[in-house]
Amino acid sequence: MSQVIARRYRPQGFDEVIGQAPIVRTLRNAIESGRIAHGFIFSGHRGIGKTTVARILAKALNCRAAQGPTATPCGECDSCREIKDGSAVDVIEIDAASNRGIDEIRALRERVRYRPARDRYKFFILDEAHQLTGDAFNALLKTLEEPPEWAVFVLATTEPEALPATIRSRCQHFGFRAVPFSQILEHLTRICEQERVPTDQEALGLIAEAGEGSVRDALSLLDQAITHAAEGDNRLSAESVRALLGRVSTAHIRALLEAVASDSARNVLEQADALLATSVSPAQLCWQLTQAVRNLLVAQAGGELLEVTESERASAQTLASRFREEELARFLQILLRCSNDLRHGQQERLHFELALIKMLHARRLSSVEEVLASLTGEGTPGAPAPSGPKGAPAAPRLAEPPRLPEPPKLAQPPKLAAPAGIPEFSAVAAAPAPSQAPPAPEPPAPAAPQAAVRAALERQGKAALLSIVDKAQWIFRDHQLELVFGGASAGAATLANQPATRKALAAACLAGLQRSLEVIVSSRADAAPETAPAAAAPPGSPAERAEQHPLLRQIKDSIPHHVLRTFVPSSS
Ligand SMILES: Nc1ncnc2c1ncn2[C@@H]1O[C@H](COP(=O)(O)OP(=O)(O)O)[C@@H](O)[C@H]1O
Ligand SMILES: [Mg+2]
Ligand SMILES: [Zn+2]
Repeated sequence: MSQVIARRYRPQGFDEVIGQAPIVRTLRNAIESGRIAHGFIFSGHRGIGKTTVARILAKALNCRAAQGPTATPCGECDSCREIKDGSAVDVIEIDAASNRGIDEIRALRERVRYRPARDRYKFFILDEAHQLTGDAFNALLKTLEEPPEWAVFVLATTEPEALPATIRSRCQHFGFRAVPFSQILEHLTRICEQERVPTDQEALGLIAEAGEGSVRDALSLLDQAITHAAEGDNRLSAESVRALLGRVSTAHIRALLEAVASDSARNVLEQADALLATSVSPAQLCWQLTQAVRNLLVAQAGGELLEVTESERASAQTLASRFREEELARFLQILLRCSNDLRHGQQERLHFELALIKMLHARRLSSVEEVLASLTGEGTPGAPAPSGPKGAPAAPRLAEPPRLPEPPKLAQPPKLAAPAGIPEFSAVAAAPAPSQAPPAPEPPAPAAPQAAVRAALERQGKAALLSIVDKAQWIFRDHQLELVFGGASAGAATLANQPATRKALAAACLAGLQRSLEVIVSSRADAAPETAPAAAAPPGSPAERAEQHPLLRQIKDSIPHHVLRTFVPSSS
């Protein structure tokens, strides 16, 4: 291969440019209607077509096969060929980064003054234009203010805001976009067909993804990957691309997230350990995990936005359904912070493992929405809260078993989330089955701890907070204080459920009881909610309904799946 792929596949006409449709359309229209500006700014990231489109524009203006400017330059005439080779006298490319001074721009102005040697236009492409010095900009400005009819400037830059406003106002500005994943993938597929490189979508998907919107970056990775594959059996496989990129497979990342979804710290850490035992770095793993979590968020928002191959999209959507949107947002925060920590290059592994543990913990926090939903009467205290819009499982702590006499001691504490993604855990499950007895009254709360916490709040001068929590019934548990508000105190409940409020209460618990308690807020539906269809029976077979019973779920969660089956006598 004599020439790198990126050069060989540089688009020669407007129709070959990918991912910049609006720009191409506008330029074509301008050419066809004969309204060509003298100054253009082409801005955007590296490798997305700025230079390419500038050269096509030069050809369009100078092609000799047409009488005047044409949107479809022939590609064959002397002008077109010379522009392609970079040898056209009237198309001048200047790297502003290395010719940034006033002298260079003065010389340039001299050149501008003379008519084109052969072509219709003298076409200047200033690459990295933001690098010019102030004096150089001033000199350039004079030219842009009174350009000779034959001069056209394209200022290509990755930092348009660094161009002086005076320059910007003289130019037509085109902001180039990062090229969408799917279009890069198609482009790579086409090139591999033409190059007769055996490959598959997974491998090319990895390359497209790693290009991060830059066609040039994707193409140079493709070059490397082809060379890499040539050392083996010539097939450009996902495995060889991954090895090249130092990445682990999406299946591994997915498995790691599945372990997080099933709330098994041991499983999570073991998987991380196995991956780190290969040559991948914690930083790389963290980054891939970050991208995967981001993809899950996008998948929840509607999979069509996902920039991955079809099969990956399907599995991302399945996995996404196992998390709440909020959880994913928290994961993202945790991982981004971890990425940052990993930059210092110390205790990398520790930081990464810590992030994984934090993710597990993050799953145990309940969301404001869920508590609010329970306040509006969609849920009854003690019954599972309605699930999120995506059918994600409700917050674990709202899935407390109904207050039945002494639930059996279980191997796994009930505060852990039920394995997420169990579909029957749906909004309807929140409505008590008709046969289900109404929750038994709370056992009376012991007065002593409440008084101690109240006293602590008083000492801290939290009168407003006191007036809120006094509207609630206090239930102390081993690690928890639950504040149960009546239906008439929905406002107070909302206030109490503010993260800051709960934090202040937890602090008061610590001060008053020398115990750290998690504070949660719920409301008792003692007023009939207007919205809930009171007598609606949950759909599904009796067995399905039984499966939704919180106590049963709790038991199931603590015993390996395959051991248990729900059996409902047919008379029920
Ligand atoms: N929009 C695009 N469509 C097709 N190929 C592109 C596009 N953008 C970049 N390329 C490829 O990347 C190479 C470099 O593109 P270039 O236009 O020089 O990028 P830059 O935006 O940095 O000026 C081109 O030779 C071409 O192969
Ligand atoms: Mg360029
Ligand atoms: Zn031509």
